[in-house]
Amino acid sequence: MTRIGIVGLGYVGLTTSVGVAQLGHQVLGYDLDASRVNLLLTSKPPIHEEGLEQSLGRLIKSNALSFTNHLEDLQSFKPEFVFVCVGTPQDESGAADLTILNSAAQEVAPALPAGGIMIIKSTVPVGTCQKIAQSLNRTDLFVASNPEFLREGTAIKDFMEPDRIVVGANSPEVAKKVMSLYDAIDSPKLETSLESSELIKYAANAYLAMRLSFTNDIANLAEATKANVDQVLFGMGLDKRIGNSFLKPGPGWGGSCFPKDTSALVSIAKSYDSRLPLVESAIASNHAALTRSADVIEGLVGGHLANKTVAVWGVTFKANTDDVRDSPSLKIVDILLKRGATVKAFDPIAIAPGRAGLSMASTALEATVGADALAILTEWPEFSEIPPELVAAGMKEPVVYDARRILPESWRSHFSVFKVLGEAAK
Ligand code: UDX
Repeated sequence: MTRIGIVGLGYVGLTTSVGVAQLGHQVLGYDLDASRVNLLLTSKPPIHEEGLEQSLGRLIKSNALSFTNHLEDLQSFKPEFVFVCVGTPQDESGAADLTILNSAAQEVAPALPAGGIMIIKSTVPVGTCQKIAQSLNRTDLFVASNPEFLREGTAIKDFMEPDRIVVGANSPEVAKKVMSLYDAIDSPKLETSLESSELIKYAANAYLAMRLSFTNDIANLAEATKANVDQVLFGMGLDKRIGNSFLKPGPGWGGSCFPKDTSALVSIAKSYDSRLPLVESAIASNHAALTRSADVIEGLVGGHLANKTVAVWGVTFKANTDDVRDSPSLKIVDILLKRGATVKAFDPIAIAPGRAGLSMASTALEATVGADALAILTEWPEFSEIPPELVAAGMKEPVVYDARRILPESWRSHFSVFKVLGEAAK
């Protein structure tokens, strides 16, 4: 059994702790936040993630996994590898802020014995791992890069069944050692330099974000031209070089990765006197998509949002997560509020951080009572199970905007206006 320390028990660190322990290693997760650690020690995950609670319970019980908020515990654990999984948030200029990462690296390096490897899982600008290696002032330690590609909602499954595993290091021996931690996983495995590994992560996320911006722009054009957007995207994706996944139109992309990583990549390029016009356009297209949805809602209530109440279903950035970071729904809500609307929102799991003019309802129906319009902004599947006649009966005006394209066709007859993103008005 290899002893592995995980530093930072946020989304990435926690799912990595569970994943690595499931692979048969002995794992100690470390975080400064005592309340988070205490919660985890009772097998309670602070985030909503499919399968996480059960796995935590099982792994803690079998002593494969434990947590601490004391650095000394990590030191006496003597991990052969430490995964650094702390946040790299966006700073005011759009670049990644490495303050937390740098201090975490300095703090935990002494816990690594000679020959130990610090593995950076946090998303970091190209060149960061090299700089960390130099800053540690220890020639007996190695630094590797091992980006995560986990999607919230399916993170544990993504960990165990990845499309690929990427490990970057300064020497093939170090890369091989890190890759050997994943021996139990059968997937394509790529060993690269530190810089290539760091850039692969940003390139993948920027490409996916660009693809979604393109998808949303095509959906908008399909709406204008009366083309059927499902058929257009399906027909396009049948080309094997394109493929059909990740082509679902929506109100815009968001979450904890795409917005900050696209912006950081643009910033990385600038620091090398280079430009990424496609990524810059994808970001601009996404802003336009969010505003477009707010404009549609404004249009549906008669062109003015002042004194109007909009019901919003879904505040998370996508379904099956409780994460509201950079949520397209909340960005649209903010535009509606700024234009004078009152918003009553409902989400099956999350509560939106407070804002003047926004209140949270305890049921989906309650949010719609007396509303001038209902907007579906997150694709929770249960929304399509709600009886449309009850929704329509309680609203001030039976007006619906489905920005996630999840409501069944049977809803249409119950509403005076039933607008679906990507579809021309019928
Ligand atoms: C993403 C990447 O997929 C993952 O590989 C990376 O490591 C972290 O960032 P995540 O943020 O969990 O994962 O969400 P993802 O499922 O990729 O969705 C991101 C955004 O795109 C969401 O707002 C989602 O609603 C939107 N989206 C996604 C679409 O609008 N249409 C799609 O077809 C897919």
